[in-house]
Amino acid sequence: MIRDKIKKLLKEITGKEAKVEHPEDTRHGDYSTNIAMRTGLDAKEIVKKIENNPMFEKVEVAPPGFINFWIDKKELERLFLELIERGPKIFQKKPEKKETIVIEYSSPNIAKPLGVHHLRSTIIGQALVNILRFIGHKVVSLSFPGDWGTQFGFLIAAFKRWGNREKLRRNPIPEMLDLYVRFSQAAKKDPKLIEEGREEFKKLEEGDRENRKIWKWFLEESLEDFNQVYKLLGVKIEHTIGESFYEPELKPLVKDALKRDVAKRGRDGSIVIQIPGSPTPEIIQKSDGATIYTTRELAAIRHRLKKWRATKILYVAANQQTFHLKQVFGTAQRLGIAKLEQLGHVKFGMMLTSGGKKFATREGRLIPLKEVLAEAIQRAKKIVDELNPSLPEELKESIARDVGVGAVKFFDLSHNRLVDIIFDWDKMLNLKGFSAPYIQYTHARLSSILRKAKFRNKRNPRLTISHPLEKEIMVVVLRFGEIVRDAGETYFPNKLANYLYELANTLNVFYETLPVLKAKNKERESRLNLVFGAKEILKTGLNLLGISAPEKM
Ligand code: ARG
Repeated sequence: MIRDKIKKLLKEITGKEAKVEHPEDTRHGDYSTNIAMRTGLDAKEIVKKIENNPMFEKVEVAPPGFINFWIDKKELERLFLELIERGPKIFQKKPEKKETIVIEYSSPNIAKPLGVHHLRSTIIGQALVNILRFIGHKVVSLSFPGDWGTQFGFLIAAFKRWGNREKLRRNPIPEMLDLYVRFSQAAKKDPKLIEEGREEFKKLEEGDRENRKIWKWFLEESLEDFNQVYKLLGVKIEHTIGESFYEPELKPLVKDALKRDVAKRGRDGSIVIQIPGSPTPEIIQKSDGATIYTTRELAAIRHRLKKWRATKILYVAANQQTFHLKQVFGTAQRLGIAKLEQLGHVKFGMMLTSGGKKFATREGRLIPLKEVLAEAIQRAKKIVDELNPSLPEELKESIARDVGVGAVKFFDLSHNRLVDIIFDWDKMLNLKGFSAPYIQYTHARLSSILRKAKFRNKRNPRLTISHPLEKEIMVVVLRFGEIVRDAGETYFPNKLANYLYELANTLNVFYETLPVLKAKNKERESRLNLVFGAKEILKTGLNLLGISAPEKM
């Protein structure tokens, strides 16, 4: 990678790790560094030592002390030809330290519909799985559904009172949700119900046959429902290990913590752990002897680290989970289950509707994700119908799925994940904007150029660069590896989304300015090669974000 080479050169000269960036303004070179200012060295002296390196066309000092680099055409051509011959895998350099990373994402709650925060977690999580794998780490993809806890006692109690098997089978999630809501409301008037619910959960914990059967049925129906959404999203989660899996390990875990004197019994009988640096002790067992969410989290950490010999666990979970996870991480550290630096919370903000409100219908109900995706596909179909009316209907439908689902995903991934975002159909589907359809369309246009030219990826491809725009394409395309690594190492997929937009913009200027199909001989061959290399990168980048790149649009 070009940036690595420049960093290495600078390290040899200055002895320091340099920050090398790509300036937004191309007049400041292809790459630039502030190392001279940071180290107090003379920029001119540094430049003297590298300006004759054949890798650069030009190296300049710019006030107040930046060093700007222009990469030599020969070097760019050499690397670009390598891309054409060997494909995007040339960017898959071994990482300095290979990690085994468990990424926990999606993690919906059983018997409830997937919420918008689950959508975000699923989309961001899957993108990080793909990206971290691409940059050479071993990644375990995992969901941790909420399938245990007192609320299941309430649900079972409600089902025994008012449940209807037939209705539930036909429409499982809304039916379960209704039962739950009805129970909560009734319990407000009649607190005896709470006791009844607790009793049912206790029976469930103790292995009561009937309650286990009902619980298992709810679980299966829910997972089936989630899988439909995952399928629609093209998401593959390798392992699904819910909270209930850890039930048998909880009591021994608490006992052990007490024995080792890490946990203490409080005055009310609850069992708590003090976390260094946190004013709030964490409860791992309630006064009535019931274990809680945190206890299951701890057992899960221990299990994951051991089962996959993981070096890290990442939690792709909403900002709202910050306090909870911090407490869990601190407790895990205290118990010697994990080191703090092995546990990371990859947070994200909320998705709001245009009025800045929570994502819900007017009646306050969650909008089912299936409906959102169905609408996205329907809107995308209109775009495809307009762009390419003569395509066969079936193909148009499959393109509409790629574009509609891609639009929703890209919209999410193109934002800095930490901030709240406002759901906006027009932005999401804008063919000329910062959107998946725009990038997909650019990709489809490149595909169409290659089809018309009957392009074949030949051995010994050639490049003959005659225009600055061609050089620009090469520079941008060849930055791909650096970008994916940055996105992966910082867990910010929007870095890749931004880059793909920039690449698409550069490509649009390129083919609107320079003839490709109508160019002559060597120039035509060379431009087709550029188109081919760039198209491969657009496609690989979209795929890493979990987005398809259809050949036609
Ligand atoms: N089940 C939770 C929810 O639906 C998300 C869980 C996040 N993961 C975790 N290990 N706490 O909101």
